[in-house]
Amino acid sequence: PSTRIVVHPSYVVGEIDRRIFGSFVEHLGRAVYTGIYEPGHETADEQGFRQDVADLTNELGTTVVRYPGGNFVSNYFWEDGVGPREERPTRIDLAWRTLEPNTVGTDEFLAWTKKTGTEPVMAVNLGTRGADAAANLVEYCNIPGGTTWSEKRRANGADEPYAIKTWCLGNEMDGPWQIGHKTADEYGTIASQALQAMRRVDPTIEFVVCGSSSRDMVTFGEWERIVLEHTFDDADYLSMHAYYEEHDGDRVSFLASAAAFEAFMHEVIATADAVAARKHSTKRLKLSVDEWNVWYLSRFAGEENLELLEQPRLIEDVYSVLDAVVAGDLLATLVRNADRVAIACLAQLVNVIAPIMTEPGGEAWKQTTFYPIALTAEHARGVTLDARIEAPTLTTGKYGDVDGVASTITWDAETGSLVAILSNRTDAASETTIDASAFSGLTLVDAQTIIADHAGPRKTREDAEAATPKALDGVSVDGGIVSLTLPAESWSLVRFT
Ligand code: AHR
Repeated sequence: PSTRIVVHPSYVVGEIDRRIFGSFVEHLGRAVYTGIYEPGHETADEQGFRQDVADLTNELGTTVVRYPGGNFVSNYFWEDGVGPREERPTRIDLAWRTLEPNTVGTDEFLAWTKKTGTEPVMAVNLGTRGADAAANLVEYCNIPGGTTWSEKRRANGADEPYAIKTWCLGNEMDGPWQIGHKTADEYGTIASQALQAMRRVDPTIEFVVCGSSSRDMVTFGEWERIVLEHTFDDADYLSMHAYYEEHDGDRVSFLASAAAFEAFMHEVIATADAVAARKHSTKRLKLSVDEWNVWYLSRFAGEENLELLEQPRLIEDVYSVLDAVVAGDLLATLVRNADRVAIACLAQLVNVIAPIMTEPGGEAWKQTTFYPIALTAEHARGVTLDARIEAPTLTTGKYGDVDGVASTITWDAETGSLVAILSNRTDAASETTIDASAFSGLTLVDAQTIIADHAGPRKTREDAEAATPKALDGVSVDGGIVSLTLPAESWSLVRFT
Protein backbone atom coordinates (compact mmCIF):
# COMPACT_ATOMS: atom_id res chain seq x y z
CA PRO A 1 0.00 0.00 0.00
CA SER A 2 1.46 3.31 -1.07
CA THR A 3 0.76 6.91 -0.18
CA ARG A 4 1.19 9.98 -2.36
CA ILE A 5 1.18 13.52 -0.98
CA VAL A 6 1.46 16.78 -2.92
CA VAL A 7 2.21 20.18 -1.37
CA HIS A 8 2.81 23.67 -2.66
CA PRO A 9 3.78 26.74 -0.59
CA SER A 10 0.96 28.81 -2.17
CA TYR A 11 -1.81 26.53 -0.98
CA VAL A 12 -2.26 27.33 2.69
CA VAL A 13 -4.85 26.10 5.19
CA GLY A 14 -4.06 28.73 7.78
CA GLU A 15 -1.58 30.14 10.22
CA ILE A 16 -0.89 27.88 13.19
CA ASP A 17 -2.08 29.53 16.38
CA ARG A 18 0.51 28.60 19.00
CA ARG A 19 -2.33 28.16 21.48
CA ILE A 20 -3.02 24.80 19.82
CA PHE A 21 -0.16 23.50 22.00
CA GLY A 22 -2.04 24.20 25.20
CA SER A 23 -2.65 22.04 28.23
CA PHE A 24 -4.91 21.85 31.24
CA VAL A 25 -4.43 21.87 35.01
CA GLU A 26 -7.53 21.03 37.03
CA HIS A 27 -7.97 20.72 40.76
CA LEU A 28 -8.35 16.98 40.32
CA GLY A 29 -6.38 14.19 41.96
CA ARG A 30 -2.70 15.11 42.00
CA ALA A 31 -2.63 17.61 39.13
CA VAL A 32 -2.10 20.57 41.43
CA TYR A 33 -1.06 19.12 44.80
CA THR A 34 2.10 17.01 44.33
CA GLY A 35 1.80 17.82 40.61
CA ILE A 36 2.74 21.40 39.79
CA TYR A 37 2.88 22.29 43.51
CA GLU A 38 4.69 20.47 46.28
CA PRO A 39 6.38 22.61 48.90
CA GLY A 40 9.16 20.66 50.54
CA HIS A 41 10.00 18.77 47.37
CA GLU A 42 13.72 18.91 46.68
CA THR A 43 13.12 20.89 43.49
CA ALA A 44 10.44 23.21 44.93
CA ASP A 45 11.01 26.95 44.54
CA GLU A 46 10.26 29.50 47.25
CA GLN A 47 6.58 29.48 46.20
CA GLY A 48 6.32 25.71 46.45
CA PHE A 49 6.26 24.93 42.72
CA ARG A 50 8.15 21.86 41.56
CA GLN A 51 10.97 22.94 39.26
CA ASP A 52 11.21 19.49 37.69
CA VAL A 53 7.56 19.73 36.57
CA ALA A 54 7.99 23.32 35.38
CA ASP A 55 11.02 22.21 33.32
CA LEU A 56 9.08 19.35 31.73
CA THR A 57 6.17 21.73 31.02
CA ASN A 58 8.60 23.88 29.07
CA GLU A 59 10.11 20.92 27.29
CA LEU A 60 6.62 19.80 26.28
CA GLY A 61 6.21 23.16 24.53
CA THR A 62 3.09 24.10 26.49
CA THR A 63 1.73 27.50 25.48
CA VAL A 64 -1.62 28.12 27.21
CA VAL A 65 -2.96 26.37 30.32
CA ARG A 66 -6.65 26.05 31.13
CA TYR A 67 -7.55 26.30 34.83
CA PRO A 68 -9.10 25.47 37.38
CA GLY A 69 -11.42 22.93 35.69
CA GLY A 70 -12.93 20.86 34.27
CA ASN A 71 -15.77 19.52 36.31
CA PHE A 72 -14.14 21.07 39.38
CA VAL A 73 -14.95 24.62 38.28
CA SER A 74 -18.71 24.06 38.34
CA ASN A 75 -18.88 24.36 42.11
CA TYR A 76 -15.74 26.42 42.68
CA PHE A 77 -15.87 29.47 44.89
CA TRP A 78 -12.84 31.33 43.62
CA GLU A 79 -12.87 33.66 46.63
CA ASP A 80 -11.91 30.63 48.80
CA GLY A 81 -8.58 30.46 47.02
CA VAL A 82 -7.35 34.03 47.49
CA GLY A 83 -6.05 35.95 50.50
CA PRO A 84 -4.17 34.74 53.57
CA ARG A 85 -3.72 30.99 53.39
CA GLU A 86 -4.59 30.38 57.05
CA GLU A 87 -8.02 31.89 56.41
CA ARG A 88 -8.82 29.77 53.36
CA PRO A 89 -11.51 27.15 53.93
CA THR A 90 -11.28 23.44 53.20
CA ARG A 91 -14.22 22.44 51.02
CA ILE A 92 -15.60 19.27 49.52
CA ASP A 93 -15.04 19.33 45.79
CA LEU A 94 -18.29 17.82 44.55
CA ALA A 95 -16.99 16.94 41.10
CA TRP A 96 -14.35 14.47 42.27
CA ARG A 97 -15.43 14.13 45.90
CA THR A 98 -12.09 15.35 47.15
CA LEU A 99 -11.02 17.59 50.03
CA GLU A 100 -9.90 20.89 48.55
CA PRO A 101 -7.65 22.86 50.93
CA ASN A 102 -7.53 25.93 48.66
CA THR A 103 -3.80 26.28 49.29
CA VAL A 104 -3.41 26.92 45.57
CA GLY A 105 -5.87 29.41 44.10
CA THR A 106 -5.97 32.10 41.45
CA ASP A 107 -2.86 34.04 42.53
CA GLU A 108 -0.74 30.94 42.96
CA PHE A 109 -1.77 29.49 39.61
CA LEU A 110 -1.06 32.78 37.87
CA ALA A 111 2.34 32.93 39.58
CA TRP A 112 3.00 29.46 38.15
CA THR A 113 2.04 30.57 34.62
CA LYS A 114 4.50 33.42 34.98
CA LYS A 115 7.18 31.00 36.14
CA THR A 116 6.55 28.65 33.22
CA GLY A 117 6.04 31.36 30.59
CA THR A 118 2.59 29.99 29.80
CA GLU A 119 -0.64 31.92 29.26
CA PRO A 120 -3.71 31.23 31.40
CA VAL A 121 -7.10 30.31 29.96
CA MET A 122 -9.42 30.90 32.90
CA ALA A 123 -12.72 29.09 33.40
CA VAL A 124 -15.59 30.48 35.47
CA ASN A 125 -18.24 28.60 37.43
CA LEU A 126 -21.56 28.66 35.59
CA GLY A 127 -22.79 25.51 37.36
CA THR A 128 -23.64 26.80 40.81
CA ARG A 129 -22.86 30.48 40.20
CA GLY A 130 -23.43 33.10 37.52
CA ALA A 131 -22.61 36.56 36.17
CA ASP A 132 -21.89 38.06 39.59
CA ALA A 133 -19.02 35.76 40.64
CA ALA A 134 -17.64 35.65 37.09
CA ALA A 135 -17.54 39.44 36.69
CA ASN A 136 -15.92 39.80 40.12
CA LEU A 137 -13.18 37.37 39.11
CA VAL A 138 -12.47 39.41 35.98
CA GLU A 139 -12.31 42.51 38.17
CA TYR A 140 -9.94 40.74 40.58
CA CYS A 141 -7.65 39.64 37.76
CA ASN A 142 -7.76 42.39 35.17
CA ILE A 143 -8.56 45.78 36.71
CA PRO A 144 -5.40 47.70 37.71
CA GLY A 145 -6.81 49.05 41.01
CA GLY A 146 -9.23 51.40 42.72
CA THR A 147 -12.10 48.89 42.99
CA THR A 148 -13.04 46.40 45.69
CA TRP A 149 -11.73 43.25 44.02
CA SER A 150 -8.72 44.78 42.30
CA GLU A 151 -7.59 46.28 45.61
CA LYS A 152 -7.98 42.85 47.22
CA ARG A 153 -5.66 41.42 44.58
CA ARG A 154 -3.15 44.16 45.26
CA ALA A 155 -3.42 43.55 48.99
CA ASN A 156 -2.78 39.88 48.27
CA GLY A 157 0.54 40.78 46.71
CA ALA A 158 -0.21 41.14 42.99
CA ASP A 159 0.21 44.83 42.27
CA GLU A 160 -0.07 44.55 38.51
CA PRO A 161 -3.25 43.18 36.87
CA TYR A 162 -2.90 39.75 35.27
CA ALA A 163 -4.57 40.84 32.01
CA ILE A 164 -6.10 37.41 31.38
CA LYS A 165 -7.30 37.42 27.81
CA THR A 166 -9.26 34.19 27.34
CA TRP A 167 -12.18 33.07 29.52
CA CYS A 168 -14.18 29.83 29.36
CA LEU A 169 -17.85 30.28 30.19
CA GLY A 170 -18.33 27.17 32.35
CA ASN A 171 -17.37 23.59 31.60
CA GLU A 172 -19.27 20.72 29.93
CA MET A 173 -22.62 22.16 30.92
CA ASP A 174 -24.33 19.61 28.64
CA GLY A 175 -23.18 16.72 30.86
CA PRO A 176 -25.63 15.27 33.39
CA TRP A 177 -22.59 14.60 35.65
CA GLN A 178 -21.83 18.31 35.78
CA ILE A 179 -22.75 20.09 39.02
CA GLY A 180 -25.37 22.60 37.89
CA HIS A 181 -25.92 20.81 34.56
CA LYS A 182 -28.20 22.82 32.27
CA THR A 183 -30.31 22.54 29.15
CA ALA A 184 -28.89 24.29 26.10
CA ASP A 185 -31.39 27.12 26.54
CA GLU A 186 -30.55 27.55 30.22
CA TYR A 187 -26.83 27.46 29.53
CA GLY A 188 -27.09 29.80 26.53
CA THR A 189 -28.93 32.30 28.71
CA ILE A 190 -26.53 32.21 31.66
CA ALA A 191 -23.47 32.19 29.38
CA SER A 192 -24.76 35.26 27.57
CA GLN A 193 -25.50 37.04 30.85
CA ALA A 194 -22.09 36.22 32.32
CA LEU A 195 -20.36 37.26 29.11
CA GLN A 196 -22.09 40.66 29.05
CA ALA A 197 -21.17 41.34 32.67
CA MET A 198 -17.58 40.19 32.29
CA ARG A 199 -17.17 42.27 29.14
CA ARG A 200 -18.43 45.36 30.98
CA VAL A 201 -15.60 44.85 33.45
CA ASP A 202 -12.97 44.31 30.74
CA PRO A 203 -14.02 44.96 27.11
CA THR A 204 -10.79 43.46 25.77
CA ILE A 205 -11.36 39.86 26.86
CA GLU A 206 -12.32 36.85 24.72
CA PHE A 207 -14.88 34.15 25.42
CA VAL A 208 -15.14 30.42 24.88
CA VAL A 209 -18.70 29.05 25.01
CA CYS A 210 -19.30 25.40 25.87
CA GLY A 211 -20.02 23.05 23.03
CA SER A 212 -20.53 19.34 23.64
CA SER A 213 -18.50 17.28 26.06
CA SER A 214 -18.35 14.51 23.47
CA ARG A 215 -19.79 13.58 20.10
CA ASP A 216 -21.68 10.76 21.84
CA MET A 217 -23.91 13.16 23.77
CA VAL A 218 -27.54 12.78 22.68
CA THR A 219 -27.77 16.56 22.57
CA PHE A 220 -24.73 16.95 20.26
CA GLY A 221 -25.48 19.30 17.38
CA GLU A 222 -28.68 20.66 18.82
CA TRP A 223 -26.74 21.82 21.89
CA GLU A 224 -24.31 23.84 19.78
CA ARG A 225 -27.11 25.31 17.67
CA ILE A 226 -29.17 26.51 20.63
CA VAL A 227 -26.20 27.77 22.64
CA LEU A 228 -24.97 29.73 19.63
CA GLU A 229 -28.42 31.20 19.00
CA HIS A 230 -27.86 32.88 22.40
CA THR A 231 -24.17 33.70 22.13
CA PHE A 232 -23.04 33.71 18.50
CA ASP A 233 -22.49 37.46 18.12
CA ASP A 234 -20.43 37.78 21.30
CA ALA A 235 -18.53 34.50 21.51
CA ASP A 236 -15.02 34.15 20.13
CA TYR A 237 -14.64 30.39 20.35
CA LEU A 238 -16.84 27.31 20.62
CA SER A 239 -15.45 24.45 22.70
CA MET A 240 -15.45 20.72 22.03
CA HIS A 241 -14.02 17.89 24.12
CA ALA A 242 -12.87 14.54 22.76
CA TYR A 243 -11.26 11.52 24.41
CA TYR A 244 -10.36 8.24 22.75
CA GLU A 245 -9.50 4.78 24.04
CA GLU A 246 -9.20 1.23 22.75
CA HIS A 247 -12.52 -0.49 23.39
CA ASP A 248 -12.75 -4.30 23.64
CA GLY A 249 -9.46 -4.88 21.86
CA ASP A 250 -10.59 -2.98 18.74
CA ARG A 251 -7.10 -1.77 17.92
CA VAL A 252 -7.98 -0.83 14.34
CA SER A 253 -10.71 1.63 15.37
CA PHE A 254 -8.47 3.01 18.09
CA LEU A 255 -5.74 3.69 15.53
CA ALA A 256 -8.34 5.60 13.50
CA SER A 257 -9.28 7.87 16.42
CA ALA A 258 -7.87 10.97 14.75
CA ALA A 259 -10.06 10.41 11.68
CA ALA A 260 -13.10 10.40 13.97
CA PHE A 261 -11.71 13.46 15.78
CA GLU A 262 -11.40 15.34 12.49
CA ALA A 263 -14.92 14.39 11.40
CA PHE A 264 -16.23 15.59 14.79
CA MET A 265 -14.41 18.92 14.37
CA HIS A 266 -15.89 19.39 10.92
CA GLU A 267 -19.38 18.70 12.27
CA VAL A 268 -18.97 21.31 15.01
CA ILE A 269 -17.65 23.82 12.47
CA ALA A 270 -20.58 23.07 10.13
CA THR A 271 -23.03 23.65 12.98
CA ALA A 272 -21.43 26.98 13.86
CA ASP A 273 -21.47 28.01 10.21
CA ALA A 274 -25.13 27.00 9.91
CA VAL A 275 -25.96 29.36 12.79
CA ALA A 276 -23.96 32.06 10.98
CA ALA A 277 -26.05 31.45 7.86
CA ARG A 278 -29.31 31.73 9.80
CA LYS A 279 -28.07 35.01 11.21
CA HIS A 280 -26.88 36.25 7.80
CA SER A 281 -23.46 36.60 9.38
CA THR A 282 -20.07 36.25 7.73
CA LYS A 283 -18.44 35.54 11.10
CA ARG A 284 -16.58 32.24 11.21
CA LEU A 285 -16.24 31.01 14.78
CA LYS A 286 -13.08 29.19 15.73
CA LEU A 287 -12.80 26.11 17.91
CA SER A 288 -11.30 25.79 21.33
CA VAL A 289 -10.68 22.05 21.62
CA ASP A 290 -10.02 22.61 25.27
CA GLU A 291 -9.93 18.95 26.30
CA TRP A 292 -8.48 16.22 24.08
CA ASN A 293 -6.46 13.09 24.73
CA VAL A 294 -6.35 9.33 24.97
CA TRP A 295 -8.26 8.48 28.16
CA TYR A 296 -9.22 4.98 29.33
CA LEU A 297 -12.46 6.38 30.68
CA SER A 298 -14.01 2.92 30.87
CA ARG A 299 -11.39 2.00 33.51
CA PHE A 300 -12.57 4.95 35.59
CA ALA A 301 -16.19 3.77 35.67
CA GLY A 302 -16.98 2.39 39.10
CA GLU A 303 -14.51 4.73 40.76
CA GLU A 304 -17.27 7.23 41.36
CA ASN A 305 -18.08 6.52 45.02
CA LEU A 306 -14.87 7.99 46.14
CA GLU A 307 -13.55 8.18 49.64
CA LEU A 308 -13.16 11.80 50.76
CA LEU A 309 -9.41 12.38 50.61
CA GLU A 310 -6.91 15.11 49.87
CA GLN A 311 -4.89 14.73 46.64
CA PRO A 312 -6.00 11.16 45.88
CA ARG A 313 -4.52 9.25 42.95
CA LEU A 314 -7.31 9.74 40.43
CA ILE A 315 -7.35 8.97 36.70
CA GLU A 316 -3.61 8.36 36.58
CA ASP A 317 -3.71 6.54 33.25
CA VAL A 318 -0.45 4.92 32.25
CA TYR A 319 0.12 5.00 28.51
CA SER A 320 1.45 2.49 26.00
CA VAL A 321 3.47 3.28 22.87
CA LEU A 322 0.29 2.69 20.84
CA ASP A 323 -1.35 5.47 22.90
CA ALA A 324 1.55 7.77 21.96
CA VAL A 325 1.04 7.03 18.26
CA VAL A 326 -2.66 7.89 18.56
CA ALA A 327 -2.02 11.01 20.67
CA GLY A 328 0.48 12.23 18.07
CA ASP A 329 -2.09 11.69 15.33
CA LEU A 330 -4.71 13.63 17.34
CA LEU A 331 -2.40 16.62 17.77
CA ALA A 332 -1.40 16.56 14.09
CA THR A 333 -5.12 16.69 13.24
CA LEU A 334 -5.50 19.86 15.28
CA VAL A 335 -2.59 21.42 13.41
CA ARG A 336 -4.01 20.26 10.05
CA ASN A 337 -7.20 22.22 10.78
CA ALA A 338 -5.32 25.41 11.62
CA ASP A 339 -7.87 27.56 9.77
CA ARG A 340 -10.57 26.81 12.36
CA VAL A 341 -8.76 25.58 15.49
CA ALA A 342 -7.44 28.45 17.58
CA ILE A 343 -6.96 26.85 20.98
CA ALA A 344 -6.45 23.25 22.07
CA CYS A 345 -5.66 21.89 25.51
CA LEU A 346 -4.22 18.48 26.09
CA ALA A 347 -6.17 17.12 29.05
CA GLN A 348 -4.26 17.13 31.23
CA LEU A 349 -0.68 18.22 32.06
CA VAL A 350 0.45 16.40 35.20
CA ASN A 351 -0.55 13.06 36.78
CA VAL A 352 -4.17 13.13 35.56
CA ILE A 353 -4.30 11.53 32.05
CA ALA A 354 -1.04 13.33 31.56
CA PRO A 355 2.25 13.27 29.69
CA ILE A 356 4.08 14.22 32.91
CA MET A 357 3.94 12.01 36.02
CA THR A 358 5.33 12.68 39.47
CA GLU A 359 5.97 10.79 42.64
CA PRO A 360 5.31 12.80 45.82
CA GLY A 361 8.76 13.57 47.17
CA GLY A 362 10.24 11.74 44.20
CA GLU A 363 11.01 12.14 40.54
CA ALA A 364 9.01 13.55 37.64
CA TRP A 365 9.00 11.58 34.39
CA LYS A 366 7.68 11.57 30.85
CA GLN A 367 4.96 9.23 29.71
CA THR A 368 5.00 7.83 26.17
CA THR A 369 2.61 10.54 24.96
CA PHE A 370 5.09 13.24 25.92
CA TYR A 371 7.33 12.62 22.90
CA PRO A 372 5.06 13.25 19.88
CA ILE A 373 3.49 16.24 21.60
CA ALA A 374 6.82 17.88 22.43
CA LEU A 375 8.19 17.26 18.93
CA THR A 376 5.09 18.70 17.26
CA ALA A 377 5.01 21.78 19.48
CA GLU A 378 8.66 22.41 18.76
CA HIS A 379 8.61 21.98 14.99
CA ALA A 380 5.08 22.62 13.63
CA ARG A 381 5.38 26.35 13.03
CA GLY A 382 4.23 28.95 10.56
CA VAL A 383 1.35 27.79 8.38
CA THR A 384 -0.30 24.47 7.64
CA LEU A 385 -0.26 23.66 3.94
CA ASP A 386 -3.25 22.28 2.08
CA ALA A 387 -1.57 18.96 1.28
CA ARG A 388 -3.42 16.56 -0.99
CA ILE A 389 -3.12 12.89 -0.15
CA GLU A 390 -3.90 9.58 -1.82
CA ALA A 391 -3.71 7.04 0.98
CA PRO A 392 -4.59 3.39 1.51
CA THR A 393 -8.02 2.83 3.04
CA LEU A 394 -8.38 1.55 6.57
CA THR A 395 -11.65 -0.22 7.28
CA THR A 396 -12.66 0.14 10.90
CA GLY A 397 -15.45 -1.40 12.94
CA LYS A 398 -16.36 1.86 14.58
CA TYR A 399 -15.80 4.59 12.00
CA GLY A 400 -16.18 2.83 8.64
CA ASP A 401 -13.51 3.51 5.98
CA VAL A 402 -10.95 6.17 6.81
CA ASP A 403 -7.58 7.23 5.39
CA GLY A 404 -4.98 4.71 6.51
CA VAL A 405 -2.25 7.36 6.36
CA ALA A 406 -2.68 10.98 7.44
CA SER A 407 -0.34 13.87 6.76
CA THR A 408 0.04 17.32 8.22
CA ILE A 409 2.55 19.54 6.45
CA THR A 410 3.70 22.82 7.95
CA TRP A 411 5.82 25.54 6.41
CA ASP A 412 7.68 28.29 8.21
CA ALA A 413 8.72 30.79 5.53
CA GLU A 414 10.81 32.74 8.04
CA THR A 415 13.11 29.85 8.89
CA GLY A 416 12.57 27.93 5.67
CA SER A 417 11.48 24.85 7.62
CA LEU A 418 9.11 22.34 5.99
CA VAL A 419 7.75 19.69 8.37
CA ALA A 420 5.76 16.55 7.55
CA ILE A 421 3.89 14.77 10.34
CA LEU A 422 2.82 11.39 9.08
CA SER A 423 0.63 8.80 10.81
CA ASN A 424 0.40 5.30 9.43
CA ARG A 425 -2.74 3.88 11.01
CA THR A 426 -2.55 0.58 9.13
CA ASP A 427 -0.74 -2.63 10.03
CA ALA A 428 1.40 -2.56 6.87
CA ALA A 429 4.34 -0.34 5.99
CA SER A 430 3.46 2.33 3.41
CA GLU A 431 5.81 3.43 0.62
CA THR A 432 5.26 7.17 0.62
CA THR A 433 6.20 10.00 -1.70
CA ILE A 434 5.79 13.67 -0.99
CA ASP A 435 5.86 15.88 -4.06
CA ALA A 436 7.39 19.06 -2.68
CA SER A 437 9.03 20.03 -5.95
CA ALA A 438 7.68 23.59 -5.61
CA PHE A 439 10.20 24.08 -2.78
CA SER A 440 13.56 24.69 -4.36
CA GLY A 441 16.68 22.98 -3.05
CA LEU A 442 14.88 20.91 -0.45
CA THR A 443 17.13 18.91 1.88
CA LEU A 444 16.44 16.55 4.76
CA VAL A 445 17.17 17.80 8.27
CA ASP A 446 15.88 15.02 10.48
CA ALA A 447 13.39 12.13 10.48
CA GLN A 448 12.04 10.54 13.65
CA THR A 449 9.44 7.88 14.26
CA ILE A 450 7.49 6.18 17.04
CA ILE A 451 6.32 2.68 16.23
CA ALA A 452 3.51 1.08 18.22
CA ASP A 453 4.01 -2.36 19.74
CA HIS A 454 1.72 -4.85 21.40
CA ALA A 455 3.03 -4.30 24.91
CA GLY A 456 0.74 -2.71 27.46
CA PRO A 457 1.02 0.51 29.46
CA ARG A 458 4.54 1.63 30.35
CA LYS A 459 4.48 1.78 34.12
CA THR A 460 7.90 3.22 34.90
CA ARG A 461 10.05 5.99 33.55
CA GLU A 462 12.53 3.53 32.06
CA ASP A 463 9.69 1.61 30.49
CA ALA A 464 8.15 4.75 28.94
CA GLU A 465 11.49 5.68 27.41
CA ALA A 466 10.80 2.90 24.91
CA ALA A 467 8.60 5.46 23.13
CA THR A 468 11.48 7.87 22.65
CA PRO A 469 11.40 8.67 18.92
CA LYS A 470 13.92 6.71 16.88
CA ALA A 471 15.62 7.74 13.64
CA LEU A 472 13.51 6.95 10.57
CA ASP A 473 16.06 5.61 8.13
CA GLY A 474 15.81 5.57 4.35
CA VAL A 475 14.36 9.02 3.69
CA SER A 476 15.57 10.43 0.37
CA VAL A 477 14.98 13.73 -1.41
CA ASP A 478 15.51 14.08 -5.13
CA GLY A 479 14.48 17.28 -6.93
CA GLY A 480 11.92 18.02 -4.23
CA ILE A 481 10.41 14.53 -4.37
CA VAL A 482 10.64 12.87 -0.96
CA SER A 483 10.56 9.09 -0.72
CA LEU A 484 10.23 7.20 2.54
CA THR A 485 8.68 4.13 4.08
CA LEU A 486 6.26 4.67 6.94
CA PRO A 487 6.43 1.75 9.37
CA ALA A 488 3.12 0.04 10.23
CA GLU A 489 1.22 1.68 13.12
CA SER A 490 3.61 4.58 13.46
CA TRP A 491 3.81 8.31 13.95
CA SER A 492 6.67 10.19 12.28
CA LEU A 493 7.94 13.73 12.05
CA VAL A 494 10.26 14.58 9.16
CA ARG A 495 11.94 17.95 8.77
CA PHE A 496 13.35 19.60 5.66
CA THR A 497 14.91 22.89 4.84
O1 AHR B 1 -10.21 16.01 32.13
C1 AHR B 1 -10.98 15.28 33.02
C2 AHR B 1 -12.45 15.66 32.99
O2 AHR B 1 -12.97 15.34 31.74
C3 AHR B 1 -12.78 17.12 33.14
O3 AHR B 1 -12.88 17.52 34.46
C4 AHR B 1 -14.12 17.23 32.48
O4 AHR B 1 -14.34 18.50 31.93
C5 AHR B 1 -14.11 16.12 31.44
O5 AHR B 1 -15.25 15.35 31.53
